[in-house]
Amino acid sequence: MPGGIKIYHLKEIYKNMLNVKNQFPFFTNNPGITYMDSAATTQKPRIVLDKLVDFYTTHNANAGRSSYPIANQLTNEVEEVREKVGKFINASKKEEIIFTSGATDGFNKIAYTLGIHYLKDGDEVLYCPQDHKSFVLPWFKVQRLVENMGVAIRLVPFRVNKMGSIDRDDLFSKVTDKTKIINATHIHNIYGADSDINKIRDWLGDKDVIINVDAAQSVGHRLVDVQQLGADILSFSGHKMFAIQGVGATFITKKLHQFMEPIFVGGSNGVKLHDSEVEVTNFSQAYESGTQNYAGILTLGKAIEFIEQLGIENIYIHLSELTQYLLQKLRQLPKIEFVYGPNFWSCADGAGILSFKVGGLSASEAGFMLAENGILVRTGDHCISSRDEFTNTIRISMHVYNTTDDIDFLIKILKTICK
Ligand SMILES: Cc1ncc(COP(=O)(O)O)c(C=O)c1O
Repeated sequence: MPGGIKIYHLKEIYKNMLNVKNQFPFFTNNPGITYMDSAATTQKPRIVLDKLVDFYTTHNANAGRSSYPIANQLTNEVEEVREKVGKFINASKKEEIIFTSGATDGFNKIAYTLGIHYLKDGDEVLYCPQDHKSFVLPWFKVQRLVENMGVAIRLVPFRVNKMGSIDRDDLFSKVTDKTKIINATHIHNIYGADSDINKIRDWLGDKDVIINVDAAQSVGHRLVDVQQLGADILSFSGHKMFAIQGVGATFITKKLHQFMEPIFVGGSNGVKLHDSEVEVTNFSQAYESGTQNYAGILTLGKAIEFIEQLGIENIYIHLSELTQYLLQKLRQLPKIEFVYGPNFWSCADGAGILSFKVGGLSASEAGFMLAENGILVRTGDHCISSRDEFTNTIRISMHVYNTTDDIDFLIKILKTICK
């Protein structure tokens, strides 16, 4: 557990979480709403919104270009946020963090960069068809692109197990001496399961395989430590952890920097033209071509401050408790059919995500009935890459502002729907 974090008694956490809700203007402005779609995007605390307004009303400038005071101040603040993001996920250097427009942008940048500059003919990339489309589809585009350059990359699928985490036996059986990259989701967006990425790293030992992690549903939900996970690359979105939409970050371990080159280049302090070669002068900034979403980056810094004030371990406990409470209540209802996830694991863990079907109803019908009562949830295929029996589900996803009262209300409405 990270030092200095206070662990509250459970009751105290809930009391604290009630106060937390007051910090989100969305709930004050929508008193009748029970928001249970945080895996799609979280609501924003006042500290984040204030930063956004302050930036555009008082401090608006471009970073890394002009040299008057508010421009310099912005340049410095962006680098401070880079440092803060790095510390938050335990990167060893701030240069290992690149800002993106979100997880999808990060995954694409990584797939194109590695596909074009790192992979060789015959190399294999492992992926899970049950993962989010954003994490999977870029590899298929890159495969086609490099095929046109005479390079054949094999994309090798592996499964998840019934709990919803990576089936490590299946994964390990697919690893060959041609395997160069394993794409692993940390917390699954439908099943809510943790894939114990560190166990994959341990098994790989000193094999030269890059572990590329989708942490869109884990950063801001539980402690994410890139070194402890053994992640070489890890991407996430700010808007799923209280920052505004259109900002995110990707961690790239220092030891890979020498093998990578940015694909998209332009105005930034990270690249220059030298004898008709585009030369990288600053690794992280080289991946941030053009004017960035600086307002977004500043709100990402504030979102981290917000999370650190609550304590990431407290958030983890809160979400685990809510998940288990919801599971226990859902089990008492007729017609609920669980998909992979907390129903199939034995520990009191959870990321606030639980998916299920209501027998006899399509997910969108059930979702519509919930929305009529102010309960906002996600229904459908949840952007999964492969359609299977788990598409068309209802997904509940909770965060710091949810309480057991929200779950009790959801169960009350589901009872009428399940009749
Ligand atoms: C697991 C996972 N990966 C990737 C993404 C894509 O995130 P974004 O749309 O913010 O780029 C999501 C969003 O739902 C997700 O849940």
